[in-house]
Amino acid sequence: MKWLDQAAYTCARTYAETYCVTVYVGGIRFYKPINIGEVIRVDSQVIYTGNSSIHIMVEVYSRDFSEKQFQKKTHCIIIFVSVDEKGQPQKVKPWIPLTDQEKKLEEYAIKLKALRENIHNEMRPFFNE
Ligand SMILES: CC(C)(COP(=O)(O)OP(=O)(O)OC[C@H]1O[C@@H](n2cnc3c(N)ncnc32)[C@H](O)[C@@H]1OP(=O)(O)O)[C@@H](O)C(=O)NCCC(=O)NCCS
Repeated sequence: MKWLDQAAYTCARTYAETYCVTVYVGGIRFYKPINIGEVIRVDSQVIYTGNSSIHIMVEVYSRDFSEKQFQKKTHCIIIFVSVDEKGQPQKVKPWIPLTDQEKKLEEYAIKLKALRENIHNEMRPFFNE
């Protein structure tokens, strides 16, 4: 989990060129276990930006030393907000998807955003914010 956050933060911080804070971690899916001693690869990429938020997709792969191919093991979405020196959200440059894959991932991020809003509304009666 720490590596996911670190990889995603590095990606968001590099993109935003400002300090960023985590606002959301979700959609985490552990497809298969990672065994102790395996080689780990953590990929992160920007898939969507809002006004101040940067949505990062993180994918974790692993392989045994005896294998050449990495296998996908985990996937999640982590959202950061670019903040100023007072900790207030500030505008980020818009992410412009270019490839078909980047366009699909942006659509995926937009769908997830709507789903999160629905979940948030469902949960609203059960917690105070
Ligand atoms: C980040 C923070 C400054 C934002 O303040 P806020 O009053 O919620 O500001 P806003 O409502 O304008 O939201 C800012 C952005 O966060 C997004 N956001 C807020 N809550 C969110 C959530 N639960 N899930 C996804 N995105 C969320 C908003 O959609 C908005 O994105 P946009 O500007 O791209 O439209 C504030 O929430 C905060 O300080 N949170 C604590 C951060 C923290 O301590 N993280 C852990 C350690 S790094």
